[in-house]
Amino acid sequence: MRLTLQVNGAKHEVVLDDPDTPLIFVLREMLGLTGAKFACLEGACGACTVHLDGAAARACMRRARDLEGVAITTIEGLGASGLHPVQKAWIEERVAQCGYCQAGQLMQAAAFLRRSPTPDAEAIARAMSGNLCRCGTGPRIAKAVARAAEIAKEDA
Ligand code: FES
Ligand code: FES
Repeated sequence: MRLTLQVNGAKHEVVLDDPDTPLIFVLREMLGLTGAKFACLEGACGACTVHLDGAAARACMRRARDLEGVAITTIEGLGASGLHPVQKAWIEERVAQCGYCQAGQLMQAAAFLRRSPTPDAEAIARAMSGNLCRCGTGPRIAKAVARAAEIAKEDA
């Protein structure tokens, strides 16, 4: 099966041996975009989070063939025109530990703040609760999401 995907603003033609190939494998193995990670492959950890038309989505749960015409953004494209507020906040707060979950966390946070630019702590906790971190960076993530909301206001 041949399809055209729009990823980080560029069109890519891909040929799938298996028509059910999940987006995460197309991104990582065919397009070389290895920022999005995978772990559970069942939508339960958030490591593979990308944006589909601006909304956070689990790339392990979406078939690439269903995504023609959808604007796909990965962590590689998030800061294409300068660091995104979440990236600035993550650096300020020194969030990452091993880093494995962090691309997914950043993509989740960026999509959340687009919808909810002035969140309270409870909304942040709820929005980020599906993105797991085995290194225990949750408290720093919560702080960084709140800081990213401030940075977005300062940058506006
Ligand atoms: S690998 Fe996609 S949610 Fe865990
Ligand atoms: S930083 Fe290690 S899993 Fe989150």
